[in-house]
Order: sequence, then C-alpha cells, then structure tokens
Amino acid sequence: MDIYRIKGGKKLNGEIPISGAKNAALPIIIASLLAPGKTKLKNIPDLQDIRTTIKIIEYLGAKTEFDSEKNTLTIDAAKLTNAEVPYDLVKTMRASVYVMGPLLGRCKEADVSLPGGCAIGARPVDIHLAGFEKLGASINLDHGYIKARTAGLKGNIFVMPKVSVGATANLIMGAVLAKGDTILENCAMEPDVVDLAEFLIKMGAKIDGVGTERIVIHGVKSLKPVEYSVMPDRIEAGTYLLAGAITRGNIKITNIVPRHIESLLAKLEEMGFGIKTGKNWASVSDGKKLTGALIETLPHPGFPTDLQAPMMALMTTVPGINVIIETIFENRFTHVAELVRMGANITIEGRSAIIQGVQTLSAAPVMMSDLRAGAALIVAALAAKGETEIRRIYHSDRGYEKLVQKLTAAGAVITREKGGNL
Ligand code: UD1
Repeated sequence: MDIYRIKGGKKLNGEIPISGAKNAALPIIIASLLAPGKTKLKNIPDLQDIRTTIKIIEYLGAKTEFDSEKNTLTIDAAKLTNAEVPYDLVKTMRASVYVMGPLLGRCKEADVSLPGGCAIGARPVDIHLAGFEKLGASINLDHGYIKARTAGLKGNIFVMPKVSVGATANLIMGAVLAKGDTILENCAMEPDVVDLAEFLIKMGAKIDGVGTERIVIHGVKSLKPVEYSVMPDRIEAGTYLLAGAITRGNIKITNIVPRHIESLLAKLEEMGFGIKTGKNWASVSDGKKLTGALIETLPHPGFPTDLQAPMMALMTTVPGINVIIETIFENRFTHVAELVRMGANITIEGRSAIIQGVQTLSAAPVMMSDLRAGAALIVAALAAKGETEIRRIYHSDRGYEKLVQKLTAAGAVITREKGGNL
C-alpha cells in the first residue's frame, strides 16, 4: 500500500486550482440514469469514489467514457439491464445507496447492498427508506440487501426527522418521475444538493425551493439527457486553505464559489488570519495575532463536518484554547489520537474536542482512518518539524484529486511511495 512522506515546515505559497465536487458529482452521475440517452458531464474529478460510481452504473447497464485528463464523463443510459448493486461495489462507498432513487423512478425496483463508506459512526439509511416508503415503495431487508419495489412512485409529503444530505438527494431523484407532487420538509441545503437539483431541472424536472428547507417536486413523465458542469469542491477548497494557514503561508484557491465556504472563511478571519475573496477565488495569509476559536459542526450553511478534522489540525497550532463540537457524526474524532502522536494537545469530552495550541508539531508515523481524518494528517504534516510518514492513504484517494501535484506546486515537500505494511 502506498504512503505519503511529507517534510513539514515549508510555507505554502501560490495558487491551487480546485477540482469538481466529489459529493455533487456522485449523485449527478447516478441521476444520469434517469434519462435514456447520452449525458455529458464536465468537471468530474478523477477520484476513487468516482471510478467506483462509474463501475456501479456500468453494472446497471449504462455505457460510459471517462476522460480523466479532461475531466469529462459521457454516460449512455439508453438501456438499463440490471437493478441490483452487489456488496463488492457498495462496500467502500456509502453514496452507492443513491442508486435507489433513479432505479425506483425508472425501473420500479432496486436491490442495493447496505452501504459501507467512511467509518465515522453508525450512519444508518433509515430516512432514505422511510421516504421511499412514503412515496409508495415497499422495502425489505434481506441478506444484507435493501430490496425496494413499487408499482410506480407517487407524490406525498415527507418530513425528514433529521437533516440528511443523502436522503434529500436520493428522495429528490426518486420524486422527479413520481406521479403528482412531492413535498420534502427539513431538507439539506448543502450546495451539492442544489447542484444535483439544478442538473435535474436542466434535464426537465420540475423542482421548487431548491436550497431551502422545503423542496417541492412536481413529477414529470420523462427526463432528457443534457450536458452539465459539476460545481467546485468546497471541501477540497477548504482543506487547501487550512493547509496554507497552518504553514502560515499565502495560498489562493481558484475555480471556487466563495459563498460555499463562507463559514470557514469567517472562522479563519475570526482566528486572525488574513482572508480575501474575489468572484471565483479566496486566499488566506498569516495574521499578526492569532486566537483560538469555537466551532460547532452543523448542516449547511453551518460549519461543515467534512472540514472539522483538517480545521482541528490547524487549531493544534493556534495559541490559546480552541473547541470543536461535532454534532453531525458521533465517531468523527479518529484523527485525534494521530494528531496527539504528532505533539498536539487535545482532550475529548463526549462530542467536544478541546485543543490547546502548541508551538510546533513534530513528525511521526501516522495512519489515516477515513477520508477527512486523512486530510487532517496531511495538513498537520505540512507544518510538523521533520518528515511525517502517512499510511493508508487510499482514504485520501477517495476525495483529493492530484493531491501531490497540487501541494508540490504550492511549495510543499511531499512524495508518494510504494510500501508500508499496513
Ligand atoms: C454526506 C456527505 C458527507 C458529509 C455528510 C454531512 C456525500 C457522499 N457524503 O454524507 O461527506 O459528511 O453528508 O454533511 O455527499 N442519518 C440518519 N439516517 C439516515 C441518513 C442519515 O440517521 O437515513 C444521520 C447520519 O448518521 C448523520 C446525519 O444524519 O448523523 C447526517 O448524515 P447525512 O447528511 O445523511 O450524511 P451523508 O449523506 O451520508
């Protein structure tokens, strides 16, 4: 298994272009199944999760062509031949459950192995399933598979008991071809959900209230294939800003939508970092006097849970007391033990982490436990004294395109090597 070696302590400087958003691309690729014909998607990042998703839709009968250099993906979903996604394809990626919406809409059946993904808590799919039942599907759990059947989905009212990005996206995809109107209450307002809805609208779907808590979908008979460019990745964007900040360098990220990362920019400014933004860029620079901050992860527009881990890495070097309260996932502090091995001073109390800033972090061999925990280790290593060896980097391959290339161009000393026993 490959490892990263990072020689820390170099200030990052320069521009880092941001790739297309993984979490928007995944449902959008799967939503292409709703339109018989050829869909062309642009700004698709070349990531492990994207390649898994392509395998899934090919398994279902779609023909695909992925140009990873140009980041374009053509999907021909003229004919679907299968409505079952097996465990081997689902086990590494929770987003595979997104096939339920389009398959129920177009094929009236879906058999999906219960999903895997990042090990950050229980992460049930009960809200997805309750929503599809409300829309007229029968759901059975059988030998690790979700088996869903319908005579045809019908519009209904569904109030989500908890804000869920995945359930909101999945139910929108199911409702677009349902008979009549569907009202979804307590919806996720994440930009990724908005991007998916805009893609569906371009295909001919009728959706009101996109980006609000209440989404109304007026079912249509069919959708047509279109060309669409996926939005930029706000989590990748945030990670590189945090990498710039921890090295006290000056990093400008480009090809982004600054309002997507407003909560992060406001926090960095409050901590004393210099923040500038333009139409499609943002930059971070060192501040004269940095101070600790309090962060609570929340659904959008609150502080994203996916930036909690890399933000904690930054906080380990910010003087004073910093506090992070993780309200979205119950087991999202697996990076803490690794950061402590690098010299961080962190105490966990239930869902809160108290981080006392230290002067310097020091390199140590560490291991990624999930995608964003991995991002925290990379951010920390960039500032740590000495050479950090990071293992299990397949986690970060799921979400960071051309990571070594992008960081190297900004002055980081990072190499990817074959090896590592674990
Ligand atoms: C998506 C993102 C993930 C991000 C998360 C929160 C993708 C592919 N992944 O994950 O990167 O961290 O949003 O912004 O877009 N829940 C239930 N029952 C359900 C569904 C969710 O209890 O049926 C709970 C979850 O356990 C969690 C909370 O709701 O505590 C939010 O989860 P959700 O928004 O659904 O996250 P994902 O869509 O899995």
